[in-house]
This record gives sequence, C-alpha cells and structure tokens, in this order.
Amino acid sequence: MNNKRTERRISVAVDGPSGSGKSTLSRAAAKELSLLYVDTGAIYRTTALHILRRGAAPGDAAAVAALLPEIGISLAYDGGGMQRMYLNGEDVTDLIRTQEVSMAASTVSAHPAVRAFLLEMQRELAQKHSVIMDGRDIGTVVLPGADVKIFLTAASEVRARRRWLELQERGTPRDWEQLLRETRERDEKDAGRTEAPLRPAEDSVLLDTSELDFSQSLERMIEIIRERTGL
Ligand code: DC
Repeated sequence: MNNKRTERRISVAVDGPSGSGKSTLSRAAAKELSLLYVDTGAIYRTTALHILRRGAAPGDAAAVAALLPEIGISLAYDGGGMQRMYLNGEDVTDLIRTQEVSMAASTVSAHPAVRAFLLEMQRELAQKHSVIMDGRDIGTVVLPGADVKIFLTAASEVRARRRWLELQERGTPRDWEQLLRETRERDEKDAGRTEAPLRPAEDSVLLDTSELDFSQSLERMIEIIRERTGL
C-alpha cells in the first residue's frame, strides 16, 4: 500500500459484467501502479455466504435484511497483495468462490438494504487508500467522483469460455452449455435490477476485451489510467 508517497488519493473505478476480466486485470494494474486493489464482488459474496449458511432464501428481501446486523466483514491483504475476506473473523476467501455463492451474491446484491449496508465500507476504503476498485456500480454509485472510470466488457461467449477454462484448470470442470446459460442469467440479473444496475457511467472509458489477450488488455488499461492520472 504505497499511498504515503502522495497526499492525493487516486481512485480508479472498474465496472463490468462477470468474466470480463475485471479482477485479474485490476489486480495486475494495481500492482503495476502501486494502488490498492479492492474486489467489491468478494464483499457481496461474503454477505451471500452468511445468508446461505443461515438458511435464508437469498431472494427474500425481509429475511436477508434481518440478518445483516449479524454480519461483520473485514478485509486484509497478504504479502502478494491478495485480498482475503473475513466473515465474523473467519477466513472465507476460498469458500466464497463456489457457483452457489456466485448465484446467491447476484440475488442478494439486488436488495437495496444490502447495497446500503455495504456502501460505506467501500467508500471508506477509497478514502483511506489510493485504489483500483472493481464491481458493478463503482463508477456510478460508490465512487462517482473517481479519477478514472473504466467499463470492461467482452462478449458473453468469451466470458463464459474464460470461466470454463479457469474451472477446468482448477480441477472443477463445468458443463459448457450450463455455464454459458448461467453467465447470461447473471448478466440479466445484474443489469436488469432497479437498484444500482450494471451500466457504464457516462464518463467511463469502454474497454472491450473480446479480441484482446491478457497482456494487451492490461496494457490498454494501464494506458487509460496513466493518461488520466499522470501516474
Ligand atoms: O464480481 P463478482 O462476480 O465477484 O460479484 C458477485 C456478485 O455481486 C455479482 O453477481 C453482482 C454483485 N456485485 C454487485 O452487485 N455490485 C458490486 N459492486 C460487485 C458485485
């Protein structure tokens, strides 16, 4: 966290659908530019994990809201800059990466009470540190005054393929058709909800990575950030 080298806090908002490469690219860009990487999806996932564990239906707004006061979320960064998530003191970093939690996170994140509950926590991180924060509504809602806003996207087939390969490599393969269906379903949910829907901020820069490989995408992302911040 090299924030002390400058008084001015820099904030970079990165939004986009699942599988657009947000987290991998944001983490790599943060490392290159000495900014703190904040994965806000992990915060929603941690909330969803608690809801599932308590046996509540993620779609039940009242039941979810009633459980929020029980949830204590904290973040810590290991030596490699990896964000670790804690739920009431328990390290849940790996537990929040299942498909069940992904779907539940998408559902619980549509409740206004959940978004309000997590908003301050996200803003505080950006007040304390120079950050690259990724999510769905960072440029539009969480950090509307961000120095740079990037909307990352890629065709749904490309995003589902990346996820499919990632799961394959992790030794937890998934059926391709089902994965593609779920990717589209989650897109619709994230973009179609009334509360903070996924959409590009008016002043965001669109970065479509459908035709770019990782290093080309990273290069372009860093270029966009440097042009606008002088980093
Ligand atoms: O980025 P992700 O797949 O880890 O996010 C999990 C879910 O959380 C995603 O389906 C939508 C939701 N989310 C959100 O609503 N707002 C954010 N800023 C980040 C994630």
